[in-house]
Amino acid sequence: MIIRKFEPADLDDVLAIEYEAFPDPYPVDVIIQLHEHGAGFIVAEVGRHVVGYNIFWIKEGIGHIIALAVGSHFRDMQVGSLLLEKSISILESNNIFTVSLEVRKSNVRAINFYVKHGFVTIREEDNYYSDGENAFIMQYQKLIN
Ligand SMILES: CC(C)(COP(=O)(O)OP(=O)(O)OC[C@H]1O[C@@H](n2cnc3c(N)ncnc32)[C@H](O)[C@@H]1OP(=O)(O)O)[C@@H](O)C(=O)NCCC(=O)NCCS
Repeated sequence: MIIRKFEPADLDDVLAIEYEAFPDPYPVDVIIQLHEHGAGFIVAEVGRHVVGYNIFWIKEGIGHIIALAVGSHFRDMQVGSLLLEKSISILESNNIFTVSLEVRKSNVRAINFYVKHGFVTIREEDNYYSDGENAFIMQYQKLIN
């Protein structure tokens, strides 16, 4: 498996994973705009197929994980961990040491995954999602000596 930058030819694979993973997927034009406006966008590739991706950006000095998903057949194989670790290391190389994200309160798998990677829940946002579900706002902060 390799982790590399997103290329436009990956779009169909990314969309298939996005639509499988999320009840409220980002529309294709939003994903294209994120790419065109310079968001960080990395993919995990296995045998010429994209099996996971991570989109992130920097706003007001804080890194934000916008989307992270792995195709269902490739979960629990460390693909998500490699993507998250790579995006955090890219952010750190840009002197960004705080990373934040939103996750559905019911998404226990993802919450455990992020906790494993050093994220803590800093607050809960009511009615964050269009179906009324609350979000946990989670944050990772690298301690610098
Ligand atoms: C969250 C997600 C990206 C993790 O990717 P992944 O490649 O499966 O993750 P990894 O294999 O690197 O790590 C799995 C870790 O997640 C946690 N985890 C996995 N399955 C779990 C479960 N059923 N219950 C609780 N925790 C679980 C564990 O902490 C596990 O750690 P371990 O390796 O020590 O066992 C993936 O499950 C996914 O795409 N989910 C759907 C989309 C999504 O929810 N994205 C995040 C929303 S913000």
